[in-house]
Formats: sequence, C-alpha cells, structure tokens
Amino acid sequence: MTDYYARYNANVHRGIHLLSEEATAAYEGARKEIAQLIGAPAPATVLFTRNTTEGINLVAHAWGEKNISAGDEILLTEMEHHANLVPWQMLAGRKKARLSFLSVNTGTGELALEELEQKLTDRTKLVAVTLMSNVLGTINPVKQIVQAAHAKGIPVLVDGAQGVPHLPVNVLDLNCDFLAFSAHKMLGPTGVGVLYGKEALLEQMDPFLGGGDMIRDVWLDRATWNDLPWKFEAGTPDIGGAIAFGAAVAYLKRLGMENVRAHERAITEKVLARFKALSGVTLYGPTDPEKRGAAFSFNVAGVHPHDLGQIFDDQGIAVRAGHHCCKPLMRKLGIVAAARASFYLYNNESEIDRLIEAIHKAQEMFSVVAHR
Ligand SMILES: Cc1ncc(COP(=O)(O)O)c(C=O)c1O
Repeated sequence: MTDYYARYNANVHRGIHLLSEEATAAYEGARKEIAQLIGAPAPATVLFTRNTTEGINLVAHAWGEKNISAGDEILLTEMEHHANLVPWQMLAGRKKARLSFLSVNTGTGELALEELEQKLTDRTKLVAVTLMSNVLGTINPVKQIVQAAHAKGIPVLVDGAQGVPHLPVNVLDLNCDFLAFSAHKMLGPTGVGVLYGKEALLEQMDPFLGGGDMIRDVWLDRATWNDLPWKFEAGTPDIGGAIAFGAAVAYLKRLGMENVRAHERAITEKVLARFKALSGVTLYGPTDPEKRGAAFSFNVAGVHPHDLGQIFDDQGIAVRAGHHCCKPLMRKLGIVAAARASFYLYNNESEIDRLIEAIHKAQEMFSVVAHR
C-alpha cells in the first residue's frame, strides 16, 4: 500500500500513462492472487468490494431483485452475523418474501442439520450461511448444505468473513455460488473485500451500482454494461487497499492455509483444555477442536464482559466484548453479551497462559468487591 501511494499513485483502467498502467497491473495482479487463494476458476469471478457486508448486499440487490418474489423463502441460520441477516430482511421486506432459519443447538454450538430437508421447501430461492461463526467458532458443514440445496436447484451464498482467513477454502470444492470475505480479517487493510460469484450467475445479474468503469457505452437515456468483473466495480476503487489485500494473500499462500489451520487447531485444543479446568466460566461453541476455529466467546460468572475487557486491556490483552453483531444468537444463548478472545497465526501458547491468568485476576478482583 505504501509502495503504491509513494511510487505509482494513479487511477486504474485509464491506460495511456505509465503510472496508471502500473497501478492497473498491480490491482489486477491482486485480483489474481485472491482468485488463486480460493480456487476461483477465473479472476473475473472475483469482484472487489468494500467488505463482506457490501458483497452480501450486492447479491441481495443485484441477484435478489431479479430472483426473489412474493412468498419466496430465503433460508439462513440462527448464528448469522447481522451482515448476513439484515440485507436479507431488507430484501424480504421489499419483495414480501420470508426468511427461515436453521436452528443452532446451544449445547453443541452446531447447526441442526436434521432440519435441512424440511426447511429447503419448494419456495426456497436462496440459502445464505456462514462458513465459521464469529461467536461460537463453529465450522459449518457448508459443502453438505450446498449439496442438499443444489439437489433442489437452490443457490448458496457463503459468508466467508471468518472461514476464509482461517481455513483452506476452495470454491470449486465447496461448489458454493457466492462467497464474500474481507481483507481486514486476514492481515490486510480495512475498507476492501471481495465477492466471488459463479460466472453464469454474475453474467445474469444487473449491476449493483451505476457510474464510471462499469459501463460499455452510455447515451443520454441508457447505458450498456462492461464485462465481468468491472460491471460490478463502479467508480474509483480502493486501489491501494486491493493491492495490499493481494500482498496479504500472497503471504498467507506462502505460509499455506493448511499450516494456518493446523496452528490454530493446536491452539484451540490447548485453549479448550485450559478453559475446561476453570470454574465459573462458560465457554460457548463446540468442544471438539476439529469442529471449530480459534475464536472463543465466554462469560465469567459475576463479571460483566465489558469489565472483563477493561481488566484484560490493563494487562495488554485485547478482547472484544459485546454482542458481536449477532444479537439473535445472543438471545438464543440467553445472554446479552460475551467476551471474545480470537487467536490467529501470530498467537502462541504463552498468550493462552496470559489469558487464563487474566481471567483468574478478574475473578479475584470481583470476589474481593463482592466480599466488601
Ligand atoms: C461471520 C462474519 N460475517 C460478516 C462480517 C462482516 O464483515 P465486515 O464488517 O468486514 O463487512 C463479520 C465481521 O465481523 C463476520 O465475523
């Protein structure tokens, strides 16, 4: 990103001058890197967006407006982030369609897959599901869900905001129809993400936003659309952000996503064992490291998650505390908030010790207060 702004800061796709050619080559090079990471058949099926949220909204508008009508159903799950819920509520409101939900088993943190057959009805037009829960850490059996949906001719959108940064993901293997994710959760900058879509679906869709770059020709009263992927990239994109996203992805590819997953799986196993030995602490999500990632939401009895966050912060530990943009899931779990410690490839075992010490410290502090 620094290199782009320092050496060849120019707009893309304006050809003619050297700096713009350099910027275009780096921007399109980043698209290729990202396409390779997820096994996309062509870079043109990978669209730059601002983030996961925008990718999902793009589908809700550009695909949803054409394909959803009154009485149709969109099947989601109870563990979706607001980003994969609210756009569908808005679409359903516009179209008088209905949302239905696969339940979450609060004991195991897993989806009730046995409901799938019954909830994929004749009216279901789309399934939208997260690959990994940002609250429970659950890795959902998305391939199986895609197979069940496709057997009934229903396309599937996958929210990859958590899954793609932490797991090897191949869109041809998953066979999903759309996959959205964000750079800022995988070592890249904020403000840039991508949406992968199957070429036939993207071709069939109308643009999401209108303006420069997304057109082939324009008259005063009409316009025609550019080829993929630019049909969906109206206006000047976040060029430096996209280039930086490509650099982050190149780094992750060098490490190997299998190795990233193996590292986090090992961390997960240790964290689960350490939490099991704690008293007065509720950890949410699967207890089998094979079934989850390394984001751990928890509550400590008698300590509000915001207080936990403050005590941890005093010890140099950054956790998120709150509803994690999953308010319906919080209600289902019977809580208003939780603290969440998220581990990634840069975390090590000694940091697990620090976290556990911090939990003990919070318990001590609050029992002191309680005894006064
Ligand atoms: C599972 C999941 N989906 C979607 C999002 C939204 O991502 P963004 O804010 O980058 O659009 C997040 C971010 O926290 C997430 O964890």
